Amino acid sequence: MARIAIVTGGTRGIGAAISRALKEEGYRVIANYAGNDEAAHKFKAETGIDVRKWDVSDYAACESNLKAIENEVGPVDILVNNAGITRDAMFHKMTPEQWYQVINTNLNSLFNMTRPLWDGMRARSFGRIICISSINGQKGQMGQANYSAAKAGDIGFVKALAQEGAAKGITVNAICPGYIGTEMVRAVPQDVLEKRILPHIPVGRLGEPEEIARCVVFLASDQSGFITGTTLTVNGGQYMV
Ligand code: CAA
Repeated sequence: MARIAIVTGGTRGIGAAISRALKEEGYRVIANYAGNDEAAHKFKAETGIDVRKWDVSDYAACESNLKAIENEVGPVDILVNNAGITRDAMFHKMTPEQWYQVINTNLNSLFNMTRPLWDGMRARSFGRIICISSINGQKGQMGQANYSAAKAGDIGFVKALAQEGAAKGITVNAICPGYIGTEMVRAVPQDVLEKRILPHIPVGRLGEPEEIARCVVFLASDQSGFITGTTLTVNGGQYMV
């Protein structure tokens, strides 16, 4: 039977590419999304991938939806913590809402999604947790104290949890995309993107969502059991760790 994979934020941007790639690889994929019904329905119609709506910053919603999925579909072996938002602002202008929204969606969601699945993965001695962090969690980014803090937190989470999962067949890894051509990056002011970001990408272009998806497929594989606690950097050479 196909392994079951959940991708948070899995109907748009990088998440949609991940959902599609995992499906092509033979996984039974469920794509979570939070708000954009229109995009989710379109995605489902195009791909046939099951979509489920809940907010990953809400622990109770994660717990109840994951329980329902496991009862209905089966045990979840692969979790891709991809959902993320930006609320960019220089720190002297940043509001508490901008800070907490980003920390809740981008970092607290890792606890909310992983904790309800963890006991089952331990019991079955298999699991793949893949967290989509960011170049900006590695290098820091002006205008993103909230986002950089959350994304750096993702990496700490992965390194700690990988040690706990290792003896139980569960790998926990992070991927740090650079600037990928999604709505999120295209929302950056055009002059900032052209003058301050693109010239610093040695490959000379934005990345493609599919270039991140192929990394997820690699880490999700049964054959990748010796790779854990690592951070896979995929940024066109913009920041070399
Ligand atoms: N790198 C270098 N300089 C930057 C910069 C950046 N990424 N972003 C802004 N600046 C500079 C501006 O060019 C400007 O410089 P000058 O005064 O010399 O012109 C100065 O900082 C102030 O910027 P703004 O005039 O734009 O100030 P603002 O208050 O109107 O807006 C901002 C500030 C919201 C941070 C806006 O500049 C912005 O959105 N910047 C982009 C931040 C960014 O890179 N976000 C990444 C989003 S994509 C993502 O997060 C995905 C991922 O994982 C990579």
